[in-house]
Amino acid sequence: MNKDYLTKNTKETTQLAKELAEEILKRKSKSSVVLALVGDLGSGKTTFTQSFIKALGIKKRILSPTFVIQKRFKLPPSTSFANVYHIDAYRIKPVDLIGLGWIGAISNNNILVVEWADKIKQVLPKDAIWIRFKHGKGETERRITLNRR
Ligand SMILES: Nc1ncnc2c1ncn2[C@@H]1O[C@H](COP(=O)(O)OP(=O)(O)O)[C@@H](O)[C@H]1O
Ligand SMILES: [Mg+2]
Repeated sequence: MNKDYLTKNTKETTQLAKELAEEILKRKSKSSVVLALVGDLGSGKTTFTQSFIKALGIKKRILSPTFVIQKRFKLPPSTSFANVYHIDAYRIKPVDLIGLGWIGAISNNNILVVEWADKIKQVLPKDAIWIRFKHGKGETERRITLNRR
């Protein structure tokens, strides 16, 4: 199932992230959810992720994980998920994920958001939600495509 969006500004991208977060929070299943984000630098992956994590109920400031590779936030007990992970795969190889606790994280009820997900495609679950970001015509336009099974 594919869904195409055109956001006209950052606020609309934030809104889209919020809607997806609300939908995922409604899931009762105990399996993990992986969001696989791809798109050029500046296309909005981090903006989307920060809004998404905030909408899950995280109040802390969410920095870009580019320099830390992975950040984990504990989710409120009111959700059926334990943690949300923000992973920047730009500089890593699939094998590096082992040291980051990837296997445990995807085997449990966590939400994982991966920027530059194409770099670790081989280890992503088949039911990952792929989100592609592209610059639009206008300076603040972005084309965002959600692709899921
Ligand atoms: N429609 C939009 N959606 C998302 N970001 C936008 C949009 N319009 C402008 N921007 C700006 O583009 C930049 C996107 O940067 P960022 O989210 O860090 O991208 P990436 O993580 O893909 O490199 C931010 O400065 C953001 O404010
Ligand atoms: Mg980024």
